[in-house]
This record gives sequence, structure tokens and C-alpha cells, in this order.
Amino acid sequence: MATILVTGGAGYVGSHAVRELGRQGLHPLTFDNLSEGHREAVLSGKFVQGDLADETALDQVFASHSIDAVMHYASRCYVGESMEDPQLYYEQNLGNLLALLGCMRRHQVRKLVFSSSCAVYGDPTRIPIDEEHPLDPVNPYGETKYFIERMLRHYDRAYGMRFVSLRYFNACGASLDGRIGESHQPETHLIPRILQVARQEEGQLPIYGDDYPTPDGTCIRDYIHVLDLASAHLAAYKWLSEGNPSQVLNLGTGDGYSVRQVIDGAARITGRKIPSQVFPRRAGDPPQLVCAAGKVRRLLGWAPRHSSLEIILETAWKWECGRRY
Ligand code: UFG
Repeated sequence: MATILVTGGAGYVGSHAVRELGRQGLHPLTFDNLSEGHREAVLSGKFVQGDLADETALDQVFASHSIDAVMHYASRCYVGESMEDPQLYYEQNLGNLLALLGCMRRHQVRKLVFSSSCAVYGDPTRIPIDEEHPLDPVNPYGETKYFIERMLRHYDRAYGMRFVSLRYFNACGASLDGRIGESHQPETHLIPRILQVARQEEGQLPIYGDDYPTPDGTCIRDYIHVLDLASAHLAAYKWLSEGNPSQVLNLGTGDGYSVRQVIDGAARITGRKIPSQVFPRRAGDPPQLVCAAGKVRRLLGWAPRHSSLEIILETAWKWECGRRY
């Protein structure tokens, strides 16, 4: 049975995909250096601890398994960190991908599902953001995703490597049973931080700016449940397996929620008070990021099933209250 290599399969988004692959009767093989990921999060298939920079180890994995496709999640993913240490991002995100693509070529693996980001668009000039929106990333993190998408087009043209690049909007939520979920160190994302305040692990939530040109002055984002991201990866794999051409697709719901709306939703779901305080804007935050979600629905027949704000907050809360890692 063919194996799907999942780089970063012990990370937040990757681990949900690994579990879903197993549930669908597919064979995931997680390759993760555990720098950010968690061994306990890998609930299906084989696990190999390894670094993408170690080409010998990677080659060995390809040589000893019949790998049909790669889902590439392993990536550094903090906008702020990428501004402070761009080299880390170019080195790891671009360098590691080059190594991976080299291995894929040597072993004739020609299907790749790639985790891209809405950060490729930079500050949007129109909302909702469709895939034709100009690409103008404003930080090294977004630039690495942008460069990779460009590289992939050339690998497709020259080597016949087919890819689906999925541009995530804001990943959030946790598994329905609360077994796996988001665990970053340090945590910078809005929803886990709100829930940590609800659990009184933090005193109050900083709201980074309430003077944006939005109805309540706080930033608007398109929140997409991590289980929906996982099912989109499976649909993308199926698309490639059926011999279809490479694609670049937004992954979001098309609905936007402001920071205040998310805080109010969390107060409702948790029944707790969420004290907050307004701080100055965080550098690099666009006022609004909401996607046009039609292309992925049309092409892959995929639709989000778990991305209502209620389900997102309920699952994230369940995870926060019983955290295993
Ligand atoms: N926010 C707060 N307080 C917090 C944390 C966040 O007010 O304590 C605000 C942010 O300013 C932003 C919104 O909540 O307006 C969402 O912030 P997140 O950090 O949760 O997510 P981002 O939109 O900044 O980042 C996401 C992904 C990145 C991706 C980026 C693209 O996490 O990987 O979108 O812009 F690059």
C-alpha cells in the first residue's frame, strides 16, 4: 500500500491530517524533527524523527518506503519571528523544501500538497481575496511561501511534479475528542490566547489595536477549523491522484470575524469573563483578511464542516481544558 509522507506531521495542522489519513485507510508516514511538534500528537501511521536538512536521512525514508505523495507541513510559521530573523526563514523554509524536492525527484515522487498561506497576498487591496489577487508578501514568512509557489510551477513544467498549494487563512480549533490541538511555545495566536485568559492562565487579553477601519475597530480574520484543513489536504491528494493539473487554492470560509467578536464568542462558549485591554497595533497586521472560497469548492468539491465560530471555540476550549502536551 502506498505511503503518504507527511513532513511536520507532529505539528498542529499536520497531526490532524495524519489522523484523518489513517481514518480514511491511507498510510501516513510522519517525518518531523520535533522542534515544534509533539510525538504524542501523531496518532496514525509510522513516525520517523528526522530533519529535512539531513538529506541522507530523508533519502533513506524515500528509499525504504513506497511513497506515493508528500504533504509538506514542516515550516517555520511566525510572522514576527520572520521579521526578526529572516535568515532562519529563508534557510529553513526554502532550504528544506529544496532538499525535499531533490529527494522527490530522485525517487520519482511527483505529487505534493503544500501548506501555503494567505500571507502571500500581503496587505490586500480588495476583500474578499481571490486567488487572482496580486501577490505582495510583506514579511519573510510570506515571502518564503510565495517563492516556493513560484518554484513549484517550474518543477511542474520541467519535471512533471504536480502540486496543490493550499493558502490557509487562520487555522484554529482542535480535534472533536480533544485529544490533539494547538500547542505553540510561545503562543501568539488569538484563539488559544483568549482561552488561556478564560482559564486564568493569563490576566487579560491584549487587543492589538481598536482603531482599524472595521465596524468595531479590531482586525477581521477568516478562521478555518484545522479538521477542515485536514480534509482539504485529502481532497487535494485525491485531485492529484486522479491525474489533474497543479492548483493554487485559498482555504478559508469566506466569513470574517473581528477580534472582539471572537472574544465575545469565547465568553459565551466558556461561560467565563475574558478581561481585555487595548494595546497599540501589532506591526504587520492587515485590518482584514477574508478569502473568496469558491475555487476550492468548485474544483475539489470541498466545503468546511467544522468552521462555525461555535465549533471552533468549543473544540479549542475542550482541548485547552484537557491539554495533553
Ligand atoms: N490578536 C490580538 N491579541 C492577541 C493575539 C492576536 O489582538 O493576543 C489579533 C492580531 O492582532 C490579529 C488577530 O488577532 O489581528 C489574529 O492574530 P493571529 O496571531 O491569531 O493570526 P494572524 O492573522 O496574525 O496570523 C495568521 C497565521 C499566520 C499567517 C497570517 C497571515 O497565523 O501564519 O495569518 O497574515 F501568516
